Amino acid sequence: MTKYIINGGKRLNGEVTISGAKNAAVAIIPAALLADGPCRIENVPKIIDVTLQLEILRELGVRIRLLNSTTVEISGEAVGGSKVPYELMRKIRASYYLIGALLGKYHHAEVAMPGGCNFGGIRPIDQHLKGFRALGATIETREGGYIVADAPDGLKGGHVYFDVVSVGATMNIMLAAVLADGQTVIENAAKEPHIVDLANFLNSMGADVKGAGTDIIKIRGVPKLHGGTYSIIPDQIEAGTFMAAVAATGGQVLIKNVIPKHLECITAKLTEMGVEIDEFDDALLVRRMGDLVKTNVKTMPYPGFPTDMQPQLTTALCLAKGTSIITEGVWDNRYRYTEELTRMGANIHVDGKIAVVEGVEELKAAPVRAYDLRAGAAMVIAGLAARGVTQVEQVTNIERGYENLVEKFQAIGADMYRAEIPEGDTSLPEAK
Ligand code: EPZ
Repeated sequence: MTKYIINGGKRLNGEVTISGAKNAAVAIIPAALLADGPCRIENVPKIIDVTLQLEILRELGVRIRLLNSTTVEISGEAVGGSKVPYELMRKIRASYYLIGALLGKYHHAEVAMPGGCNFGGIRPIDQHLKGFRALGATIETREGGYIVADAPDGLKGGHVYFDVVSVGATMNIMLAAVLADGQTVIENAAKEPHIVDLANFLNSMGADVKGAGTDIIKIRGVPKLHGGTYSIIPDQIEAGTFMAAVAATGGQVLIKNVIPKHLECITAKLTEMGVEIDEFDDALLVRRMGDLVKTNVKTMPYPGFPTDMQPQLTTALCLAKGTSIITEGVWDNRYRYTEELTRMGANIHVDGKIAVVEGVEELKAAPVRAYDLRAGAAMVIAGLAARGVTQVEQVTNIERGYENLVEKFQAIGADMYRAEIPEGDTSLPEAK
């Protein structure tokens, strides 16, 4: 079993470059299916979730060419089918974007119910299906956990008002609507940076998407989309994760290849906690020299504080002076990771969507698990701040969404490495 071994208690210092945004990439890659010609996509992060999305497309007969380590060419015109293998679909939640892309292009999709991170209880897709029906598709669930979406007479522009703000549903309806006949209006749309990135990608292929980034998106269907070249935005949550790491360990790190505007909510919160942040055009200089100070936070859809930063921020707050209150405003029970932080000496009380964190002097190393992607990032941050040698298990969950995380942290002074350790062996190897 691969583990991260982290000899913590050291300040972070140096420079780190942020990779392309995971949650943009996992939607833009299926979106390339909609084009009649090849799409060249740049700044693609080298992460498991991207590999899985590309594998799904290959299974459909799509020609995929890796032009270099972060550029992929996708030729969707050669798609041979619209049914995706069950076991592949189950591995990643973002596989649900195949429904929108296949339905939009071929008016038919047979896709397994998605898998993905195991938090938040059941992760419904009722709003996705509501949107597809608004465009004239029929939806049925077939034995074996398949969803079959069908529109034999093609899709017609429709009006959908989401009951909840949903990133996935907003993106999925965009994918289905760009080639539909007529105009589609999406109300109560999500406004995350990756929504705007998908809209910009689709428009670069000849689509007509207006209003992305606001809560009303209007899409006028076009007869076809052409290929092109597009570069994915930097990952807001990866950048935020490094910002929270500096807050927890202390030190100074220049975080490069970011869009500061996308990080404003994180910058504001960390500044309240006593972290100093200087903004440049495409970089942030993050510095924490003095004490961390407690704060309160509620996670909300963009432009609010992102739920995908909640575990990372909570970890830093474990070391802040005073009592902090965290409210999870997006998902149900996204606090399982706090059990692991408690194992490291944190003082956290969870009651439903609220966590109360009493700051402690220090965290102590312990064997911990990465229950999901962002919980895993929180374990790394805790290990970097804790005294002693922490080992993190189930790191595949982390590598689903973070490119070269160990190497990036090593480059800013972290004493951490990957190790192959027999299952159940929690004896702490000496840090190299
Ligand atoms: C995306 O998930 C992200 N994943 C998640 O990031 C992120 O936490 C989430 O958006 C919120 O920002 C990807 O983009 C691949 P939602 P998604 O639909 O689209 C409810 C990470 O760490 N809901 O915005 O699945 C849902 O239960 C991952 O990168 C419905 O009720 O999230 C939740 O309470 C973890 N019905 C809320 O809406 C639906 O049909 C927001 O979910 C859809 C969602």
